[in-house]
Amino acid sequence: MNILKIFNVSEDRIQKIFASANVAKKRDDCCYHPITEIAKGRFLANLFFEPSTRTRLSFDVAMKSLGGEVITVGKQNSSVQKGESLNDTLMTVAQYADAIVLRTSENINPDNFENIPIPIINAGDGDGEHPTQALIDLYTIRNYFKEHFSILFLGDLKYGRTIHSLIQLLSRYDCKIYHRCPDNRKLPIGLRGLSEDAESNWATRIFPDVDVVYCTREQTERVADMTSGYRVPGYRTFYGLYDKQPNILKEDAIVMHPFPRGGEIPKHWDQDHRAKYFEQAKNGVYVRIGILMDVLEIECPV
Ligand code: NCD
Repeated sequence: MNILKIFNVSEDRIQKIFASANVAKKRDDCCYHPITEIAKGRFLANLFFEPSTRTRLSFDVAMKSLGGEVITVGKQNSSVQKGESLNDTLMTVAQYADAIVLRTSENINPDNFENIPIPIINAGDGDGEHPTQALIDLYTIRNYFKEHFSILFLGDLKYGRTIHSLIQLLSRYDCKIYHRCPDNRKLPIGLRGLSEDAESNWATRIFPDVDVVYCTREQTERVADMTSGYRVPGYRTFYGLYDKQPNILKEDAIVMHPFPRGGEIPKHWDQDHRAKYFEQAKNGVYVRIGILMDVLEIECPV
């Protein structure tokens, strides 16, 4: 089964994915790589038509940890460069692999993939969605807050596809969602009712009580008009932690970021016990192990 939009990932499926992720994490704790042979002889195709470090490598490690193989192709070295349609590329790759991880710079329409006979996992489509990152983010949050938590999204909510998926996912649960963004980086209209504007005094109003602070970078590469609104003045201060002292945040709060970061989280935060962004990246492998087991229909060997 595909994972293209978070809306279509059921609660049952999420529970199963997280249960497999927990098994992988437990093995990793005692012997580093959770190597098993349960995906031996299966092939994952990583199709990345936009740059990626964490998503590509963590899918790679996840598949190899299960004993499977990974084949990878980028835009520059694929026939997409010669004008081949995405559907023809996917149909061709489906002849070689058991599942496809796909990152595109355009938004995707799931209806266009109905003829593809193997599961497709959306690894970020333009300024659309990033459902597997949302699952990783929820998994990370749940390690600290089981329920009744509050979260503040900061930054470029217009182009931040990780937030587009995560905000929809969180709206299913009992949590309070705040946001703060520049006027020209607002959430897409369909997602605006899901959170409350934290207003310009968010740092003094929301910071002392909030459980999760989720920062994002300015996605300048997605701004079509390079002349107006290309960069937001004061972004890292007004929509980030650039000038914030760690002690204004609760002791047991957590700071997250899907990465890559700009200046919105300065390096000195990395030593703070509340900074969880590298843990988030590591959880990427566990959750993607769960996701691959789900789409490849591999039972959890507990
Ligand atoms: C994000 C992405 O590609 O959407 N990164 C990621 O996959 N972890 C965020 C970003 O590029 O800003």
